Amino acid sequence: MKIGILTGGGDCPGLNAVIRAVVRKAAHYNYEVIGIKDGWKGLVELNAMPLNVQVVSGILSRGGTILGTSRTNPFKSPDTADQAVQNIKKLGLDVVIAVGGDDTLGVAAKLFKQGIKTIGVPKTIDNDLSGTDFTFGFDTAVSIVTEALDRLHTTTEAHHRTMVVEVMGRHAGWIATYGGLAGGADMILIPEMPFDVEDVCNVVKKRAHEGRGFSIIVVAEGAVPKGIEGYIAKDAKKDAFGHVVLGGIGEFLAKAIEKKTDVETRHVVLGHLQRGGSPTAYDRILACRYGVRAVELIHAGKFGRMAALQGNKIVDIPLEEGVKQTKTVDMEIYKVAEVFFG
Ligand code: F6P
Repeated sequence: MKIGILTGGGDCPGLNAVIRAVVRKAAHYNYEVIGIKDGWKGLVELNAMPLNVQVVSGILSRGGTILGTSRTNPFKSPDTADQAVQNIKKLGLDVVIAVGGDDTLGVAAKLFKQGIKTIGVPKTIDNDLSGTDFTFGFDTAVSIVTEALDRLHTTTEAHHRTMVVEVMGRHAGWIATYGGLAGGADMILIPEMPFDVEDVCNVVKKRAHEGRGFSIIVVAEGAVPKGIEGYIAKDAKKDAFGHVVLGGIGEFLAKAIEKKTDVETRHVVLGHLQRGGSPTAYDRILACRYGVRAVELIHAGKFGRMAALQGNKIVDIPLEEGVKQTKTVDMEIYKVAEVFFG
């Protein structure tokens, strides 16, 4: 059995832990593993490297991905889709493990429909994939946001300011909700619920009135004020999957708050800090479990499946189910966070 593995989309802590787990479990069965470079791009351009136990030694704790990543969509044109399929054959791959979010796994699901054996491993710091309770990378991102909020609390309080903290989360506010709850945010704004700038200002004013002269507002990059169509984005440029580069809601909101409340307001964009560095122990373990399960699925001849976490068990679900819709924030958790607003 010759397994190809690729990592696609935005990187996240734990990718290397998955690659290592796949190689180590594959070694148990004497399966060969080929690393495809830079996501689906490596299949379109035929760029791959052999992986073995020596190559993956020492990468468990390392962020990023030794394979590189990209947001390449081979189905953007029939030619590139054809090239990818031809190159799978050229490399002699029996199956491709795609480690990625909805875009990367969406390609794996499409290829499976065309008769190519694929397996998915759910990855995204955004935690917005269906069918799995958590994706690896999310816990690390939440820890980074939590630590940032702890640090921002002291400086914001010292200056009696309002701090708007923009975190990642394009379609879903999981990082904002979990990070904001853990870091004691005074309000959390998420893409699932268009917000009213007035409501945010009222929280800031109420806190000032009650003698708590500082506020921390967490806003997901994909959150939008009521009445605004679409997202606040850096520019109109789109990636191969049609997504714009988000960013700017933090600055927009900070300016609006300062203008309407007269409270000095700053903003911080945590950006790619949330995706870099070492995975937490939780993410390492989840990544190991996903990687091992991916190879077990191959050994069992179960293809077109995605490893998933349900409760405390690793299960497998059809790839299509994982990508069919965005998993939005669990309102039960948001309601807990809401208790601490204001
Ligand atoms: O998909 C994960 C993610 O981190 C999103 O939260 C964010 O919008 C996007 O990737 C940023 O991507 P890039 O690294 O291409 O700027």
